[in-house]
Amino acid sequence: MTPNRLNITPELSASVAAKTAQVAALLHEIAEDWSPAVFANSLGAEDMVLTDLIVKHKLSIEIFSLDTGRLPLETYDLMAEVQKHYGLKLKIYFPQASAVENYVRDHGINAFYDSVALRKACCHIRKVEPLRRALAGKRAWITGLRAEQAATRGNLAVHEADESNGLEKFNPLADWREKEIWTYIQHNGVPYNALHDKFYPSIGCAPCTRAITPGEDIRSGRWWWETPESKECGLHVKG
Ligand code: ADX
Ligand code: SF4
Repeated sequence: MTPNRLNITPELSASVAAKTAQVAALLHEIAEDWSPAVFANSLGAEDMVLTDLIVKHKLSIEIFSLDTGRLPLETYDLMAEVQKHYGLKLKIYFPQASAVENYVRDHGINAFYDSVALRKACCHIRKVEPLRRALAGKRAWITGLRAEQAATRGNLAVHEADESNGLEKFNPLADWREKEIWTYIQHNGVPYNALHDKFYPSIGCAPCTRAITPGEDIRSGRWWWETPESKECGLHVKG
């Protein structure tokens, strides 16, 4: 879905207004009751909705991104635009240089295509370990996950205990539909990743993300050579 193909009906506007009020209230509650809380911002469409709300409501929630070193150019362009548009300093976490160097030396620069294990090892070095540092000492983290996004996310709750990282996790957009995300973006003039207009509904690292054809599952362009069950990078683990 892209904003230009969106048909905004009065019902859709009303449901987005109601859900927006709920999310804003929840974000206020998180900032007040779960400080220090942080928001993990991948610069995807969902995360732009949350960025817009956190900034507009002047909430004391730090916003960070994990720069894997392999992100698409369009994502870096959006990072720069977000900083300008909102006057916001995104906190960026990079992977440990020595871990990346060892992985590349032992397995090769694009070894994530060779096996699920090597793909997960790359995600671990470039995303999961930096995420652990971003979450250290925090009481809660916020994500842009939605239940509808994947087989692995079907029973996603708005609030859950993240036992593997040892803090609370909030997914304020858990029950939002894709068209509700785009309605919010449209109504509020929110900047978004140029790749979304090129049939990339879900965007991760450049070598592991490709465009989809209309009608395909929204995450089918992520790690497209793997089966749907393995398509999680380890940022979001249960238990
Ligand atoms: S992933 O696990 O497959 O990579 P996805 O791209 O769907 O995740 O994003 C889900 C949520 O994970 C995002 O809304 C965001 O909260 C978090 N996230 C994913 N990638 C990053 C990133 N590079 N930096 C910060 N947060 C991220
Ligand atoms: Fe590595 Fe691909 Fe995972 Fe990015 S998405 S960390 S390049 S395996």
